[in-house]
Amino acid sequence: MRLNIFAVAGLCSVGLAKASDDRNLRGGQDVLSVETETKRVAIIGAGAGGSSAAYHLRQYAAKAGSNVNITVYERNPYIGGRSTTVNVYDDPNEPVELGASIFVKINKILVDAAESFNLSTNSIRNARPRSENSDALGVWNGAHFVFIQSGSNSWWDIAKLLWKYGLAPIRTNNLMKRTVGKFLQMYEAPHFPWPSLSQVAFDLGLTAVTAATGKQYLKENNIDSRFAEEIVQASTRVNYAQNLPLIHGLETMVCMATDGAMSVEGGNWQIFSGMIGAASAGVRLNTSVVAVEKQRDGTYAVLSKLASAVEVSPTDNTAVEVFDSVIIAGPLQFSNIKIADIESADVESTSPLRHLPDAIPYVQLHVTLFTSKHPLYPPAFNQPLDKPLPNTILTTLQPHEHLGTNPDGVGAAGFFSISTLRKTSKGEFLYKIFSPRPVHDSFLHRITGYTPDESTLENTGSPAITWAYRKVWHSYPYEYPRVTFEELKLDENLWYTSGIESFISTMETSALMGKNIARLVVNEWVEKESQGSMELWERRQHRRMNCGNSTRCGMRN
Ligand SMILES: Cc1cc2nc3c(=O)[nH]c(=O)nc-3n(C[C@H](O)[C@H](O)[C@H](O)COP(=O)(O)OP(=O)(O)OC[C@H]3O[C@@H](n4cnc5c(N)ncnc54)[C@H](O)[C@@H]3O)c2cc1C
Ligand SMILES: *[C@@H]1O[C@H](CO)[C@@H](O)[C@H](O)[C@H]1NC(C)=O
Ligand SMILES: *[C@@H]1O[C@H](CO)[C@@H](O)[C@H](O)[C@H]1NC(C)=O
Ligand SMILES: *[C@@H]1O[C@H](CO)[C@@H](O)[C@H](O)[C@H]1NC(C)=O
Ligand SMILES: *[C@@H]1O[C@H](CO)[C@@H](O)[C@H](O)[C@H]1NC(C)=O
Repeated sequence: MRLNIFAVAGLCSVGLAKASDDRNLRGGQDVLSVETETKRVAIIGAGAGGSSAAYHLRQYAAKAGSNVNITVYERNPYIGGRSTTVNVYDDPNEPVELGASIFVKINKILVDAAESFNLSTNSIRNARPRSENSDALGVWNGAHFVFIQSGSNSWWDIAKLLWKYGLAPIRTNNLMKRTVGKFLQMYEAPHFPWPSLSQVAFDLGLTAVTAATGKQYLKENNIDSRFAEEIVQASTRVNYAQNLPLIHGLETMVCMATDGAMSVEGGNWQIFSGMIGAASAGVRLNTSVVAVEKQRDGTYAVLSKLASAVEVSPTDNTAVEVFDSVIIAGPLQFSNIKIADIESADVESTSPLRHLPDAIPYVQLHVTLFTSKHPLYPPAFNQPLDKPLPNTILTTLQPHEHLGTNPDGVGAAGFFSISTLRKTSKGEFLYKIFSPRPVHDSFLHRITGYTPDESTLENTGSPAITWAYRKVWHSYPYEYPRVTFEELKLDENLWYTSGIESFISTMETSALMGKNIARLVVNEWVEKESQGSMELWERRQHRRMNCGNSTRCGMRN
């Protein structure tokens, strides 16, 4: 790091206590550069938040001239966290997203990273099978379809939307743009970097949006309740498994911001693996952090062990490494990390960590992926056999179902969405279901029209379901209205990314929090560096002037 104070003084070559001196010429000016000690940073979690923290930490540190050694701990055997793929038929040529699948054009961090790692993105619309005459999307309430959007001819769809819902779609779109516009200021100075999420949300007027439920927010903005329940709620259900009377206004608006929806071909996790690679971070896969302990000297001991050993032998084979800073990049409540301040046992200092994140309720989402040669079976959705079902079936509640505030408010529909993703190499349909409860084979049979003892179906006898994969996620928090958010700085040099999830839970926002923390970490180094140098310089001045160490002497007074 280059400290101009020395250039101004122009008389000494000093280093910090822990620094080595190094004089070099820059732009013709004699500038003293202080090569600082390498900072050791541990990042716990290789999802969007941790990968982005590593990537941006490397970039910001390089710009500031700081040396940093980054170590990423990840208990899974893969990079990506909730952004990960599985292989259809176990075939590596057939990856399919198991978690986060979509991001959008305004997700600057993901879009830029995908571009710089040369990853190709699919537009989501084109990725869908344009099969024959089926509609693009329908909203089912367990009894009938309340809305159907036909294929590619969007002009007719918009006309139809306006005819059915009046100005509500346009109002919603404008409201979404205004709200998202405020959010986008979080990327730029003077707001970026933000030391407090609560504060920046307040400053940008977003607290008013998170304080209301989606239902209230839409109503306050004169958006027709029928449009809210049939369209907006279908979107909050497929994206967050929550209804409008529960989920807050900001997350509701995020669900409507679908312009330029895309995903990375082969898997979004490649963005995060690219970030960790570009960060030249040391990655410890299959490694669970079991404890983070603050040391007397302000550093942190990170205790870890092989993920497979955690349950077998809770105390044996623990590796200990020491870091100057630690970034916890995953929900603390699911991390099984014991955070300890060893000084709290000390008489001198009884202060535990300044902040410890609260546990908050998360959605338990069941994801069911499966393949079948059958298209969805219209009679299972009260449709005539000759009327193909929409490629994507979203759901909403029936008007008399007052389940909106229930965490499991799935209602008569029984699931949140069924998407026909694509045709596989074998020419079969690949489907994905989101539901709050397990989806059994009998349900899969029913919706694909296979009934083992009915002979009416042409394919009777052949297995209806050729491949299936089930996963239960703690997918995202229940986005209850709130006006304050978890601190991102838990203590000196201890940081936390996941507080952003109760504000907005997406890959991009986790990545934004990782970037924000990286900026704050490097800013602190720079500040401390110049403070330290200033003090050292002053001390030498004192000595030179024979002032002893009297504070009455020297530059400041
Ligand atoms: C089914 C589903 C669909 C979704 N759809 C979308 C979507 O379409 N678009 C979108 O943007 N978002 C979507 N999301 C949300 C998105 O996945 C998350 O918001 C985002 O991926 C969170 O990233 P993160 O890095 O904050 O957390 P995570 O991805 O959870 O990463 C945290 C990491 O920390 C690791 N870890 C935890 N504890 C330890 C420990 N003690 N030691 C070592 N490692 C540890 C975990 O293994 C994990 O890899 C979806 C989520 C799910 C589940
Ligand atoms: C970086 O830190 C890790 C973890 O402490 C250590 O194993 C590694 O040797 C360090 N790398 C360098 C280049 O100092
Ligand atoms: C992690 O563990 C899995 C098995 O769970 C193993 O296949 C893989 O090779 C391990 N990876 C690393 C990097 O240790
Ligand atoms: C991406 O592609 C460009 C042009 O083809 C190339 O110059 C660049 O090195 C590639 N970057 C990566 C990360 O592969
Ligand atoms: C300051 O001076 C006092 C006595 O004059 C001495 O005991 C002390 O060690 C000095 N402190 C420093 C930091 O030099």
